[in-house]
Amino acid sequence: MKEKPLIEIKNLKKHFPVKKGMLGNVQGTVKAVDDVSFCINKGETLGLVGESGCGKTTTGRTVIKLYEPTSGKIIYDGVDIAGFSSNKMLSYRKKMQMIFQDPYASLNSRMTVGDIIGESIDIHNLLKGKARNERIQYLLNRVGLNSEHANRYPHEFSGGQRQRIGIARALAVEPEFIICDEPISALDVSIQAQVVNMLEDLQRDLGLTYLFIAHDLSMVKHISNKIGVMYLGKMMEMVESNELYSKPLHPYTQALLSSIPIPDPDKCAQNKRIVLQGEITSPIDPPNGCRFKGRCRYAKPICSEQDPEYKDAGGNHFVACHLY
Ligand SMILES: Nc1ncnc2c1ncn2[C@@H]1O[C@H](COP(=O)(O)OP(=O)(O)O)[C@@H](O)[C@H]1O
Ligand code: SF4
Ligand SMILES: [Mg+2]
Repeated sequence: MKEKPLIEIKNLKKHFPVKKGMLGNVQGTVKAVDDVSFCINKGETLGLVGESGCGKTTTGRTVIKLYEPTSGKIIYDGVDIAGFSSNKMLSYRKKMQMIFQDPYASLNSRMTVGDIIGESIDIHNLLKGKARNERIQYLLNRVGLNSEHANRYPHEFSGGQRQRIGIARALAVEPEFIICDEPISALDVSIQAQVVNMLEDLQRDLGLTYLFIAHDLSMVKHISNKIGVMYLGKMMEMVESNELYSKPLHPYTQALLSSIPIPDPDKCAQNKRIVLQGEITSPIDPPNGCRFKGRCRYAKPICSEQDPEYKDAGGNHFVACHLY
């Protein structure tokens, strides 16, 4: 039986005007997300990877309509919610939650852990009194913390524990879809795997669907069914997770993969590191052609003239590059 998509994103754009001067005149456009399409099946994970500033967070925030899309479709469980007003979004808000990158900034330091987790239960008027407290205690235990932690404040916890609190908060309203926005990037390497394993357990037990954002390819292989690689607002490549690592097509993906440290020194010698020249350029009014051309070792004249089409290179392996 073919899996059913929970989320289908079609040609999504999110542009921000750049305003300058006292009068706030519009001087240009940040094309943070510029024609991105993907779908995520129920109960599965799409990994979304790319350097800082390529538009991952903006994609996530636009998909759950924390930002209004500039254009494109956001089809959630068969319904296009892209144009929904905040009133019409109310019933969807509960289904879609977000876990944030910074476990220090994302928790209100003046609230107890219990109130942080209980806040959305209150907003959605789900449970009161004893039932509310029992739910908070259940959630704390579910993410590997103790019931007594409910009365403490965020500063009493380590980074990894704070991220667990953030996860409990996201789970509080029994969502179906969670955007995990670099949930492990700020954590010690020793704790990253624990948090990823916990997210996998929760997904299996609760049937959750994830968009899992990361800035490199080192930790997303296992958790992701498919992986999409973004560069300067565009999707460059997307394919089933194992194939991305065994047969990367896009020169940018190849460079990202070659920069993952390999613990085995023999393999390390075989693996030639591709050093990316320069930095990701500005997404303000990007010029025509391939957005990666300034850093690509295969760039040819057509790459400066035409934007490569994002298309299936065979076997559902999507890529945007003139080499294919
Ligand atoms: N609210 C905003 N207003 C204007 N520009 C923004 C806004 N949010 C993000 N951007 C710009 O959009 C681009 C993508 O940002 P972001 O989505 O945060 O990237 P990532 O999460 O991949 O690091 C960046 O150039 C950033 O400066
Ligand atoms: S389209 Fe050209 S510049 Fe862009 S990645 Fe492919 S070869 Fe490189
Ligand atoms: Mg981000």
